[in-house]
Amino acid sequence: MTQYSSIAGTGAYLPEKILTNADLEKMVDTTDQWIFERTGIRKRHIAADDEFTVDLAEQAAREAIERSGLATGDIDLVIVATTTPDRVFPSTACLLQKRLDIHGPAAFDVQAVCSGFVYALSIADKFIKTGSARHALVVGAETLSRIIDWSDRSTCVLFGDGAGAVVLSASESPGILSTHLHADGQYDDLLTVPDGIASGRHKIKSGQDANMYIQMKGNEVFRMAVMTLGRIVDETLEAANLDKSDIDWLVPHQANIRIINATAKKLNMPLDRVVTTVDQHGNTSAASVPLALHAAVSEGAIKKGDTLLLEAFGGGFTWGSAIIRY
Ligand code: UT7
Repeated sequence: MTQYSSIAGTGAYLPEKILTNADLEKMVDTTDQWIFERTGIRKRHIAADDEFTVDLAEQAAREAIERSGLATGDIDLVIVATTTPDRVFPSTACLLQKRLDIHGPAAFDVQAVCSGFVYALSIADKFIKTGSARHALVVGAETLSRIIDWSDRSTCVLFGDGAGAVVLSASESPGILSTHLHADGQYDDLLTVPDGIASGRHKIKSGQDANMYIQMKGNEVFRMAVMTLGRIVDETLEAANLDKSDIDWLVPHQANIRIINATAKKLNMPLDRVVTTVDQHGNTSAASVPLALHAAVSEGAIKKGDTLLLEAFGGGFTWGSAIIRY
């Protein structure tokens, strides 16, 4: 019997267009200094007008499949974590399946905002551990630029577009050691896009409406994120029976360098063992963890046998972690 799922390949895609802090200075009342000091972000990628979430997902997925040495026909589960699906339905996972010419296996989206990829990874791990799948394609893909109010300086400087993917395969050795998922819906108003198409509200309002875009009480989200991620680090280490010093790499959600540094401090981890892409990508929500993972893997920083701690926190609130022997 298969005991584990393990990462067979990773992939990533970032749109060509780059928006720098200097560009944002021309759009809203902000400065490069404020953005960099408060968030660690220097630039972010923005999808072209004719580029959609499934396009980003496809590029990342193809690279992950190629690097895994498998063919698209070997994939028997497709999960896409996204907050920005191109359609109400079919799911982005079904649209991606069509692109990849995969027919038959289960495909569905996961909506857990910035924790979406960790949620999707955990679900895929369980499919594999129970023998329901052998090679799962797990993607985090976002076009957040389409749900941002570009006149709101408190949010528009933070986010970017992109996609990351992994192929998770059945394996006799670890692998994913454990995953931990949590949510608490009582904080829905701290980080939200209030209107959805099914609410019908867009029909009775006209023109641009703030409720169609990301709204965040940044300060309160920041405090909750630091506290919650500190707690989940303890929970994860305890469940895997590992010590802080056993972790080779922290692969965190990339929302804010100050949140990342606080989690690293909690783990007593030197910053050169923390994968950081927030400066280059901004916050890409569900894409941020797989983008960071792929960056460190393709640079040769993360090596076979390394122990990784993935973690994320996002709207919902949702939060989660995965501990992985790479
Ligand atoms: O991915 C999901 C999870 N998301 C997060 O984890 C994000 C968590 N929150 C954060 O990262 C931070 O709270 C922010 C980066 C969003 C904001 O940083 P902050 O240090 O919490 O700033 P603040 O919201 O307390 O605002 C400080 C000041 C305010 O001015 P006053 O009231 O002190 O005069 C803001 O109006 O900074 C002002 N401000 C800006 N100034 C220049 C807000 N946005 C900007 C801006 N440029 N872009």
